[in-house]
Formats: sequence, C-alpha cells, structure tokens
Amino acid sequence: MSNLLAGKTALVLGIANKWSIAYAIASAFVREGATLVLTYQGERQRETVEELGAELKATKILNCDVTKQEELDALVAELKNLSPTVDAVVHSIAFANRDDLSRPFLATSREGYTLALDVSSYSLVAVARALTPLMTNGGSITTLTYLGSTRVVQNYNVMGVAKAALEACVRYLANELGPQKIRVNCISAGPIKTTSARGIRDFSKVLDGVAAIAPLRRNTDPAEVGDTAVFLASDMGRGVTGNILFVDAGFQIVALGAAG
Ligand SMILES: NC(=O)c1ccc[n+]([C@@H]2O[C@H](COP(=O)([O-])OP(=O)(O)OC[C@H]3O[C@@H](n4cnc5c(N)ncnc54)[C@H](O)[C@@H]3O)[C@@H](O)[C@H]2O)c1
Repeated sequence: MSNLLAGKTALVLGIANKWSIAYAIASAFVREGATLVLTYQGERQRETVEELGAELKATKILNCDVTKQEELDALVAELKNLSPTVDAVVHSIAFANRDDLSRPFLATSREGYTLALDVSSYSLVAVARALTPLMTNGGSITTLTYLGSTRVVQNYNVMGVAKAALEACVRYLANELGPQKIRVNCISAGPIKTTSARGIRDFSKVLDGVAAIAPLRRNTDPAEVGDTAVFLASDMGRGVTGNILFVDAGFQIVALGAAG
C-alpha cells in the first residue's frame, strides 16, 4: 500500500457480488487508504453487499437504485451527515434486457433501448448532478465502458449504443465540471466474467478471442481495473479528464488475426 487515497472519501456504486468490477475497485481504494462508502441496488443485494462492505471496512453501505431520484437524494443526505466532502465517485453500473443482448440489434424494442440508455448512460449524469455539490475540494468521477461503444461486438447490441452515449456524457461532464476541479473519466475494461457479462450470449467466445490476439495474450484482471481507478481518483491523475483509459491487455489496438 502506498496510501495514494489517504484522506479521501470515495463512493463506489455498482457492487453486486465479489466478481463485480466495482468490488475490485473498492478493494484497491481501501488498500490505498480511502474512506469507503458503498451502495447496493435494492433489498435483493443488501446482504451480500453488507458482507463485502464489512470485509472492506466500508464506513457506510447505502441503498441506491440510480433510476430513482428519491434514492439518489436520500444517498446525498446520508453522505452529508457522514463526511464534509466526497472526493471520488465510481459509477460501475449498466443494465439491458437479456433479450436485447441476444436477438438481432434491429429487433431492439423502444422500451429496451430506453431502459438500457437510462440505467447505463443517463444515470451517470444523475449521479454527477447529485454528488458534485459534495465534491467541494474537486475530485474524480470514474465510470466503466467497453469497446462495443465504437466497434461492433456480437450480441453487445443496445449496450454498445448505451456505452457510446456514456462516453459522450463523460466528455460533456468533464468540460462543465473542470472549473470546479472535478475530473470525469472512463475506464474501458476488457471483457471480464461478471454477472452482467454472463447476460451476453456467447460471452466466453469473446474471452477466448481476446486471449488469443490481445498484445498481452491474456484477458483483463479486475485488479488491473482497480489500480487504474486508484490512479484516476488520486492526485497522480490530476491532469487527466474527459478521457477513456483502456485496461484491456491492449486488445483495442489490434485487428483480427494480428497475433504473430
Ligand atoms: N464485465 C465486463 O466484461 C465489462 C467490460 C467493460 C465494462 N464493463 C462495465 O463495468 C460496469 C460494471 O459491470 P460488471 O461487469 O462489474 O457487472 P456487475 O453485474 O457485477 O455490476 C453491474 C452493477 O450494476 C448495478 N445496477 C444495474 N442497474 C442498476 C440500477 N438501476 N441502480 C443501481 N445499480 C444498478 C447492478 O446492481 C450491479 O451491481 C458496467 O458498466 C459494465 O458495462 C464490464
């Protein structure tokens, strides 16, 4: 531990279980000395996230469905009682109907499209609007994206559109919040076996394809995403905003068949 986040309060949204990318990020934050606050999405997740939160010595574990403004407001009210400032926010949240991640993209329903964009893109704007009044010393907001935003990845479908919108949200937020010394970035992670990823049809084929041709000839370790999130949340990342950092074993630079 090098205490890169000592004295900082970090809010991490998006732990469902120990396989969640948010869990790897929260673990890295704690290792670096952050004071941690976690959220869970509804009663169904509470017990698991409370157990993980206890293990990580989180100061508080609060309920927050990001599609419900009243729950975001309640989260902010609780945080105000807890800490004078919030320094780092991690948004590690996405959702699309399983059907929309397996049938042809052309068949995406209006409701499925709206839902995916609401949970996976708009929620970053809602979270930033709710939390920035508490980020009075400046700070960092980090979200998670995927290469399917700019390239066609089979079955990623509406989630690719949601990630494209999310990346655009990052740029607009970074520009508006820069004068308050709040930086906004995305980490574009390579494919990782999590509960959400299992909802994508033939996901294991994607993992195999990446391991075969990524420059590092392997998949992404969630801990690598955690360490990059530490960099962005720390003062080491003070000059970085509006950016997409790829943590993907280098996969995004290669074209199919590039492995030698
Ligand atoms: N796993 C991958 O291969 C991969 C790659 C690149 C980016 N990502 C992104 O990483 C992020 C985290 O996903 P993950 O792979 O860790 O899966 P995960 O299933 O562990 O995490 C997704 C989280 O989103 C939360 N969520 C969904 N709807 C919500 C709502 N309305 N309110 C609050 N929370 C809600 C879930 O509760 C869950 O905790 C997502 O944005 C995902 O798109 C994942």
